[in-house]
Amino acid sequence: MGYIYNFIYMLMGVSMATVGAALSKNADSQGDLDFPRDLISFIDEWKVKPGSLIMILHKTQETFGYISRPAAEKLSRLTGIPLARIYGVITFYHFFKTTKPGKYKLSVCLGTACYLKGGQDLIEEARSILGIGEGGVTEDGLFSIDPVRCVGCCGLAPVITVGTDTYGKLTKDQLPDIIAKYRNNG
Ligand code: FES
Repeated sequence: MGYIYNFIYMLMGVSMATVGAALSKNADSQGDLDFPRDLISFIDEWKVKPGSLIMILHKTQETFGYISRPAAEKLSRLTGIPLARIYGVITFYHFFKTTKPGKYKLSVCLGTACYLKGGQDLIEEARSILGIGEGGVTEDGLFSIDPVRCVGCCGLAPVITVGTDTYGKLTKDQLPDIIAKYRNNG
């Protein structure tokens, strides 16, 4: 088992070195970002515990929807963890986002049941309709698309969710109307 962890740490080391070099080229601060009180309390509680960084990053993303550069800088100041290490972890785990998601996040399920029933086709069609690639956001800031794993209603496969709305047994030709509904809401 140990060699697996060593391999992961080795990969992260390469990633952190690359990110660190990029950071040093662009070191100007973008000012101090306000963190809500509950986030500050969470960081204070967790920063002294082993393996705290992942927990803190999850909480930060839950708070802001993504982890911006100013947020990462502030986390570094509050925890004493080097910024390059924070970015090493953020870039290693695809779950973490460094750009602001769209107002409406289309989460396309690629769990087994949905994948087998055309989830991948749905994601490609949604990207084509919105004109965005992986990790992208539409120019008006309204939409982004995230592949997700099982959202817990496999009987409705294939499934997408938009915020708290769930659409099941979906076909590609239903996507334009669903997207138009949110676009019209602005
Ligand atoms: S696999 Fe998509 S909801 Fe379970």
